[in-house]
Amino acid sequence: MKLSVELAPRNKRGLLLANPVMTASGTFGWGTEYEHLFDIQRLGAIVCKGTTLKPREGNPQPRLAETPCGVLNAIGLQNIGVEAVIKEKAPIWAKWRVPVIVNILGETVEEYAELAKKLDGVGKISGLEVNIGCPNVEAGGAEFGADPLLAAKVTAAVKKATSLPLMVKLTPNTGDIVGVAKAVAEAGADAISLINTIKGIAIDISKRRPLLGNISGGLSGPAIKPIALYMVYEVAQAVKLPVVGIGGISTAEDALEFIMAGASAVQVGTANFSNPQAPIEVLEGIEQFMQKEGIEDIAELIGIARR
Ligand SMILES: Cc1cc2nc3c(=O)[nH]c(=O)nc-3n(C[C@H](O)[C@H](O)[C@H](O)COP(=O)(O)O)c2cc1C
Repeated sequence: MKLSVELAPRNKRGLLLANPVMTASGTFGWGTEYEHLFDIQRLGAIVCKGTTLKPREGNPQPRLAETPCGVLNAIGLQNIGVEAVIKEKAPIWAKWRVPVIVNILGETVEEYAELAKKLDGVGKISGLEVNIGCPNVEAGGAEFGADPLLAAKVTAAVKKATSLPLMVKLTPNTGDIVGVAKAVAEAGADAISLINTIKGIAIDISKRRPLLGNISGGLSGPAIKPIALYMVYEVAQAVKLPVVGIGGISTAEDALEFIMAGASAVQVGTANFSNPQAPIEVLEGIEQFMQKEGIEDIAELIGIARR
């Protein structure tokens, strides 16, 4: 049975995953936190926390609110900064078999490029996921991913700064996600991942105030799955690049829906909080499905719902 997928066929280095199950940025720490829970080396890839040039403290508390079938978060990209990632995390990842992809976010086009340059050739980092749409940060993020021209500008600048495979992560908070996908594909992305969280808000009625310290947050979890699936379906037929599906995936059935809609791989996010074994269960469930259905190669399933 063949589960491997190539996520960067047009990049010289390539980005070959042993299987299509990845973890989503911001929901799986640095990977190290989960090592004692299951064999993380079996995963297709690990995407680390969003990394910025300087360390960030993130947004004021509270930063999380539970909603029916989902979570609203406004972490505000708290992270240790790229220098610490290079010094402290990359040497650990270099000993791993599982590819590690570093998720990056800048507040200007130049910052994205600088981050990419700093991470090029570091340890065994296998690729970059360019977050062009974090809805939780006032400056930067949201604007880049909402506009095809700006999204293309960031992609082209990052492409110029590194030879690492580039996966550009799209935000659903735009009226034209297909337009943005086409623009980043043309600007040099090797793969496209989608979706990031959907902008939302919760009100604390006793305080008569927004519940989150940042006022608005990003919605994730099962609530966003049909929206994410629709966007993956649309984007996968609009671009020729490999697409990575994200949004409310907690079971193998969820992952298979994304794969059949056109995703070459998937990322498990919020599900990690309620079930830290979720990624490995998703992988084993896909294997069982393929065995039961007599599928020899995962490629047979990619986009099958659209044929
Ligand atoms: C607590 C939290 C932190 C996140 N941090 C990041 C981040 O740093 N960079 C990023 O690109 N996405 C981040 N995300 C978005 C997820 O990677 C994912 O795109 C989104 O949650 C949808 O998938 P899910 O429904 O499976 O969680 C974060 C999500 C959550 C819930």
